[in-house]
Amino acid sequence: MSDLYRDQILDHYRNPRNHGTLEPHDASFEDTNPLCGDRVRIDLRFDGERIADIKFSGRGCAISQAATSMLTEMVKGQTIADVRELTKDDLLDELGIPISPARLKCALLGLKVLKASAYGYTGWPGDGGS
Ligand code: FES
Repeated sequence: MSDLYRDQILDHYRNPRNHGTLEPHDASFEDTNPLCGDRVRIDLRFDGERIADIKFSGRGCAISQAATSMLTEMVKGQTIADVRELTKDDLLDELGIPISPARLKCALLGLKVLKASAYGYTGWPGDGGS
C-alpha cells in the first residue's frame, strides 16, 4: 500500500501537474523553506471566487514538489473559501505516507504558499478590495 503512495509521489515529482507560471495571473506568491532554500511559487487565475487555473514553479526536494503538484490538482476548480478551509491533514492524507517531522516543512511548503495567495487576494467583487 505504501509503495503505491511512494510511486504516486515519485510520479508527481517527475511529471509535476500544473507546472509553470501563469501570465497574466490574479494572484501569485512564493516562499522558501529557510532550512534548505527550496522554493515554491504558485500563480492563480480566478473566475469569480473559483480557481480557474493554477500553476506552480520552483525547485526543491521530491516531497515539496510532489506535494505541491498534488495540491494544485486538489484545489483547481475549488473556491477560495474551500482553500481557506483546507488543512494540512487534508494534504498529508493525500500524500498517504507518514511524513517525518523533519520533512513536514517540505510537505507543507506548497500549502503555505497557496494559503498566502488565497488570503492575499482580495480582488473579487464584494470582498471590499483594498
Ligand atoms: Fe527543501 Fe524539502 S529539503 S523543501
